[in-house]
This record gives sequence, C-alpha cells and structure tokens, in this order.
Amino acid sequence: MSLTPRITFISPGSSHRRVVVLFADNKLALGPQADTLKTGKLIARAAKAADFKGKIRTILNILAPDIAGVERLIVIGLGPPADLTRDDWRRLGGVVLATIDGGPDATVFLERLGGKVADGATEFCLGMVLRAYRFDKYKHQGTDEADNSERAPKKKSISAVAVAIDGAAKVRRAWASRAAAGEGVYLARDLVNEPANLLGPVEFSARLKSLESDGVAIEILGEKELSRLKMGALLGVAQGASRPPRVVIMRWKGGRTTAKPLVLVGKGVVFDTGGISIKPSAGMEDMKGDMGGAAAVAGAMSALAKRKAKANVVGIVGLVENMPDANAQRPGDIVTSMAGKTVEVINTDAEGRLVLADLLHYAQKHLKPKAMVDLATLTGAIIVALGHHHAGLFANDDALADAIIDAGEATGEKIWRMPLAKSYDKMLDSRFADMKNIGGRDAGAITAAQFLKRFVENVPWAHLDIAGTAMASPPSDINKSWGSGFGVRLLDQLVADQYGG
Ligand code: BES
Ligand code: MN
Ligand code: ZN
Repeated sequence: MSLTPRITFISPGSSHRRVVVLFADNKLALGPQADTLKTGKLIARAAKAADFKGKIRTILNILAPDIAGVERLIVIGLGPPADLTRDDWRRLGGVVLATIDGGPDATVFLERLGGKVADGATEFCLGMVLRAYRFDKYKHQGTDEADNSERAPKKKSISAVAVAIDGAAKVRRAWASRAAAGEGVYLARDLVNEPANLLGPVEFSARLKSLESDGVAIEILGEKELSRLKMGALLGVAQGASRPPRVVIMRWKGGRTTAKPLVLVGKGVVFDTGGISIKPSAGMEDMKGDMGGAAAVAGAMSALAKRKAKANVVGIVGLVENMPDANAQRPGDIVTSMAGKTVEVINTDAEGRLVLADLLHYAQKHLKPKAMVDLATLTGAIIVALGHHHAGLFANDDALADAIIDAGEATGEKIWRMPLAKSYDKMLDSRFADMKNIGGRDAGAITAAQFLKRFVENVPWAHLDIAGTAMASPPSDINKSWGSGFGVRLLDQLVADQYGG
C-alpha cells in the first residue's frame, strides 16, 4: 500500500482548505502564520469553554468559526515554548492525523518548529502517515463499534493534507527522502499483519522480489540450494511443513564498491506452531507474526533503496514454517548446522535460533560483513523481562551496541541492552552434541542470544529480540496496527548514522 494521506507542501498565505489545523503554546500564543487568520478572541473564548490549556498534544476543536473559508479550526497544544524533539513532532503528527482522519482534506499551518525546521516537519509528516496506516483489506464492514452492520462501508481515510510551511520547497525535498522510511514501515506492517495461510515462505519471497524495482538485487535460495549449502539447522525446522523454505538475500549497493556491507539478518518463521513441542492453542494465532524480524529487514532494505542511502547493506532472511507432522523433527534429534556444529534439538519450539544460526554462518562465509545485526521475535522470555516498550539488545561489540541504542533514542524505537556471559553459555552444553537448542527455564532470552553467539566468529554482531515490540504492542500516537513495523526506522537511522548515510 502506498503512503496515506497524500502530503503536499505549500507556502504560508496560499489558499487553505475547509479544515485548518494550527498550533498554540501553553499561553495560547500562535505563530505568525496562524496569526494571519485573525482569530481575535475566538481561541481564548473556545479554550476557556473547553478548558483547553495548550498542553502538548491536547486538542481544541472549533466548529464553524467565524473565519472566511474555514468550517473547522483545530488547535493543537505545544506546551511551554521550547524546541520540541523529533519524537514530539512525530507524536504531534499522529495526534493531528487522528483528529482529521475520516474528514475532508485539511491544511496544517506548520510553524514554531525551532532550529531544525525540515527535521521537525518531516518527522511530523512521518507521524501522520504512520498513524494513518490501516490493514483492512480483508474487512467488508465498518470497524466502528457504533456501526458494525454487515453493509456499513469501511471507514473512509482522509486522502490529502496540505502542509503550509516556510521554505516549502526545501521541506518537500526532505520529505521525499523521509517518506521512504514510512514506506518501509508500511511494508513491514503489511507482512506482519498478513495471515500465514496467505503468506508462506514462497509468497513472502515473491513480495521481496518486488524490491528489485527500487534497485535492490534479490537472490532467492530454494530447498535444493539450502541442502547443497548444508543448512541443516534451518532445514530441520522446515521439514515438518509441506510448504518449502526459502532464504532471500537482498543487496543494496549505495556505498563505495570496496566498502564491506552491514548485514541485516531476519527471522522469518511465517507461522510457529512450536512443532512437535507444540504450543498451547490460546493465542497461537499471534504466531503469524513470527516473521517480524524478516519483515523489519525487508522494510529497512526498501527504505534504504527508496532514499538511495549511500551505504552498502545486505539483508538476509530465513523463511520457514514450524509445523508438526509425520516428517517433523523430534525432541532429541541432532542436526548439523552449516557451520558444522551439531545441535541437539531438545525443544522444537526453540526454532528461530536454528534458522538464524545458519543465516549468520552464511553471512560470514559469503557476504563479508563489516558488522551483523539480527532481528528476531525470538523468545517469550524477553517479554517477561522488558514487556512491550523496549526490545532486548545483545552484542559482542560496545560501539555497535551504543550506536543501536542511540538510533533507538532518535527514532523512539527503544532498546535495552542485556548481558552475555560464559556462565549463561554453559547452560547450552549437551550430553550428545556440541550444544542443545535451549538452556532451561531461567534467563531464556539470554541463553537464546548465547546460542546465536556460538555461530558468530570475529565480526561485530548485535541481536535484537523484538518478540515484545514487533507485534501486539500497545497502541501509540503513531501506531494502531497489530504489526508495528518495529526496527525499520531504527535500522534506517543506524545506517544513516554509522554506515555512510
Ligand atoms: N516465536 C517464539 C517466541 C515468541 C513468543 C514470540 C511470544 C512472540 C511472542 C519462539 O520461537 C519460541 O517459541 N520461543 C520459546 C523458546 C523456549 C522453547 C526455550 C519461548 O519463548 O517460549
Ligand atoms: Mn517457537
Ligand atoms: Zn518462533
């Protein structure tokens, strides 16, 4: 789906639409652009009646104001006069979209952005499109509780927003590049929200093929190639499913030809039943989102290509379905990974690490990574530890870890670093093989990360456990979707900050 609403940029003083949005601080002071509307005492009177105090993100809705050509005037609070952060502007974008959505096209008088005008303005627009995202292609009826009759039409989205701003041309150019991040998030959300019957490994890889039109080179490995590569850990997970696995490699070359790439690795379990170690049925439907890591990597690759990032980045995703059937792997089975290390599969529900082990090895052997970052909905344990507000970070390199934490702060995709240590690693020792695939009940997110670390050689590496943040995370100002697209903006920011732009 392409971004919605359509955003245009116009100069202050151009004609405006019937719905006008403007901003006021906690003294109800407006910017110079809003002042040209000559609202007189109107806002002060309406504010008093509605007890509006201009607190940040609060809304004053004025219908039929006595202003020529304005049917609805919406005043959004900015709080005390101060330079607002990118996070503030993004959330304000979400709040504004929510108030004008479903209505006629609107004009936003965007001002009081402080020092970094283009930054604040594009973040505001990003907030609008992220909030506007909907996944309703399988719904025939309205989503309103108030009007849930079979024949009610779907709720209409606002189709266009004009942003009136000083330096419109410059902001328009900046948005063209920032919108790429929005499209990447849309792609990731679409993939996570899609049900597994309609998005198996083959369908997923077909969607990734479409990134070619933006200049991403796509290589798809099928079962034969995966066997030839000896990806025994990944294939062990896939063998219980009738739908065959795929590994997709996505290459973006925007940097110097000689520069080693950042490699992004994604867990793409299109559905995780647990396999023979089957999961309880309550809530199992959420496991259609167990490909959130792969979706984030795909979204990031799309964003990088669409904004023509000056960096070399390779994405690799392992697409498999974890099913129990007569051919499924059993607890106690021993598989040989591509790295040659043997793994005793104690629990077939700890499948993501088996998939990632082979991808990490492949990346080091074939992609010459400068650094590797993997993303995976890897453990329920990370949700116990951090809930839904931070993703867990594990890393063998402090500089890489710090860069990821910084990118998380800048994008609002929050990260919390967790420990790695030999004592946790020991919990994976096996009686029969080089290692077991689980470490026991305690510290489940950490032992999962230690498992991955056994497949990392001398490369800076970070692992993000996004089980709590990629799906079913609490709704926010900029996200009402079940699949959040978590990680796309973070990775895009990381590349911009650390890998050449
Ligand atoms: N995909 C799950 C982790 C998960 C749980 C993601 C809840 C999102 C929400 C993963 O494959 C899994 O099943 N992990 C097990 C590991 C255990 C068997 C050691 C878990 O977390 O229970
Ligand atoms: Mn599992
Ligand atoms: Zn899983």
